[in-house]
Amino acid sequence: MQNFIYHTPTKLIFGKDVISKLPEVMSQFGKRILLTYGGGSIKKIGLYDKVIKLLADKEIIELPDIQPNPKYDPSVLDGVRLCKEHNVDVILSVGGGSVLDCSKAIAAGAKYDGDPWDLITYKVKAQAALPIVDIITLAATGSEYDAGGVISRTETNDKTGYSDPLLYPAVSFLDPTYTFTVSKKQTAAGCADAMNHIMEQYFCEDSTLLNDGFMEAGLKSLMVNAVKCLENPEDYTARAEMMLCCTYGCNRIYSLGNSRSGWPCHGMEHALSAYYDITHGEGLAIITPRWMKHILSEKTVRRFKKYGVNVFGIDASLDDFDIAERAIKATYDFFESIGIPMHLRDVGIDESRIGEMAHHVAENEGLEEAWAPLLEKDIAEIFTESL
Ligand code: NZQ
Ligand code: ZN
Repeated sequence: MQNFIYHTPTKLIFGKDVISKLPEVMSQFGKRILLTYGGGSIKKIGLYDKVIKLLADKEIIELPDIQPNPKYDPSVLDGVRLCKEHNVDVILSVGGGSVLDCSKAIAAGAKYDGDPWDLITYKVKAQAALPIVDIITLAATGSEYDAGGVISRTETNDKTGYSDPLLYPAVSFLDPTYTFTVSKKQTAAGCADAMNHIMEQYFCEDSTLLNDGFMEAGLKSLMVNAVKCLENPEDYTARAEMMLCCTYGCNRIYSLGNSRSGWPCHGMEHALSAYYDITHGEGLAIITPRWMKHILSEKTVRRFKKYGVNVFGIDASLDDFDIAERAIKATYDFFESIGIPMHLRDVGIDESRIGEMAHHVAENEGLEEAWAPLLEKDIAEIFTESL
């Protein structure tokens, strides 16, 4: 087991109607609030009106229209400007992972005099950030319980993940009923994203019985509950369990003490979203089984065997490679069964920019140091196999 330091300072407030605690929570941080949200889903579900009513005694400044794969320009830049102009005390992010990731970049940018891109690219280390409270409305990213965010810069085809302990949300409200309206497409994509977060931690050299059991249970729970959510979007128990599995996703709690994996599928998917603005979870679902096939070897087969036997119940007495191949097929079949388009062409990506994207990933994501190292040619092959 590897040494580690673990500290997540985020308070989770989970369950039906927990939003009633919002006024008390927000009052700790001050009076001037930047309310960030997306393209309108929070208005459709009545959450916007509830928030405005609960915070009637506060000064609210709004940043609406944050898009999926949140954009540096205009959203992050507008948010930073608003925080500085209005001397904002706290950010309240209401929406999915994109709204929250954008809010994290704004929180750091608001306390920095230079170009906020310096912070996102680690050119400059953030010294301070505004506190963030969030009400998460989509189970997927785990941004509500981690210190990271992913920001896209359209003009340079960059989609950059960054992380800083200053950016843990102070408080995250998780009410599964707000996810009842999430579409089938986004529910399935959220499931694939969260499953991939677990896989990115599972497929590594050094893990423990404890972590493997936790992650295998997480994967099984996500598969069972996503299917239930798709069948009955208002199944509270299924939405609730799915939400919690997703919340654990990216804050390392699933894999404390494990060796590094390099998060290869995320490294590759960032390029797909950056170049083609596709849904993150769909990109991951398409790449994952092709990546698995590509890295299957004498060195890696041991982990695939464990995954196949414990997650999919494949007969442990079969040949190791046979188990691995069945597990990869089961992964593909599950994603397909929940309605995810399983080819890049289905999401509008052809072969024309594969070389360029593979080069971008190889230059920026450090995947030559992943558990199963990927060079530019491997990345291009995985993209081609995903077409
Ligand atoms: O914009 P609105 O109108 O709010 O609609 C959104 C959006 O169109 C909609 N939606 C959200 N909640 C809803 C809802 N529709 C109906 N009912 C609700 N309750 O869903 C659409 C997608 O929203 P988005 O926030 O983009 O989805 P998600 O939460 O999956 O976030 C994806 C982003 O997070 C990044 C991804 O790269 C991507 O940019 N990630 C962030 C991570 C992190 N911070 O740790 C880790 C992940 O690996 C991921 O990379
Ligand atoms: Zn992800």
